[in-house]
Amino acid sequence: MPSPRYAVFGHPVAHSLSPRIHAAFGRQTGIAIDYTAIDAAPSAFTEALTAFATSGGTGANVTLPLKEAAFALADTQSERAQRVGAVNTLVRRGATWHGDNTDGAGLVRDLTDRHGLDLRGRRTLLIGAGGAARGVAGALLEAGVDGLTIVNRTPERADALADALGEPGRVHPRYLERVGEAGEFDLIVNATSAGRAGTVPALPRALVGMRTAAVDLNYGEASVPFLAWARAHGVRDAIDGLGMLVEQAAESFALWHGVRPETDAVFASLQSRNVALVSAD
Ligand code: ATR
Repeated sequence: MPSPRYAVFGHPVAHSLSPRIHAAFGRQTGIAIDYTAIDAAPSAFTEALTAFATSGGTGANVTLPLKEAAFALADTQSERAQRVGAVNTLVRRGATWHGDNTDGAGLVRDLTDRHGLDLRGRRTLLIGAGGAARGVAGALLEAGVDGLTIVNRTPERADALADALGEPGRVHPRYLERVGEAGEFDLIVNATSAGRAGTVPALPRALVGMRTAAVDLNYGEASVPFLAWARAHGVRDAIDGLGMLVEQAAESFALWHGVRPETDAVFASLQSRNVALVSAD
């Protein structure tokens, strides 16, 4: 039997912080982890995953742009993965892959435990309707937000996400251009990839109220444009996606190893590096 291996699959994936995070969790819990990054283009993903399983692959994370493909490849899927149609964590069960999605739970854990936000009753705006938005929408509803308004540059995708969530009483797709008419939100989540191109969707000041928290699912430089917009408009909390990244990793680690690692030290060490990177560039 080859010894157990873990990996993150993505394309590109060289930038991924996951190997570093899982190595730190391994040191902390005393579990020896062989965790690498494997670059796989979508067309090569099936083959790469099969080779990985043959060589001892026991668990995998999956990142952009392979989360939907991982969902399709998984032999079984958790309910929360089914709800979003995307998988970020694969667990080997005998000769099959079980697919799960820890992104939403990671976000909620970061916001509630690390940042002390009570999500219950928060009027919430989700900007974006791609893979990242899908990954967190269900968990936000489960955490008890008071209505989820979804806006997207391409409105049909916001409609499709709202339909997939299946809660018409609580989920409201709207036109991005007209979101200002919806009034203030207590929680604004940027799930677009616009920040990776250094931009932010055009958003009116009217969205921000006295206790608004703004969250960007990106971290590092990609989170700067939206969080700068949010701070300039007086949000109470401006939070990037680094904590979510660490928390979703901890959830995956727990699925594989049966132990949930402590995340604060890992988060603090990445955050200091992150700040340095952003301010240096
Ligand atoms: P991811 O998996 O990161 O979510 P994705 O599925 O390609 O990537 O989705 C990207 C999201 O960012 C989409 O909601 C996209 O809007 P469209 O559906 O209209 O493409 C949004 N997005 C990307 N660039 C944007 C921009 N410059 N302004 C507004 N929205 C943008």
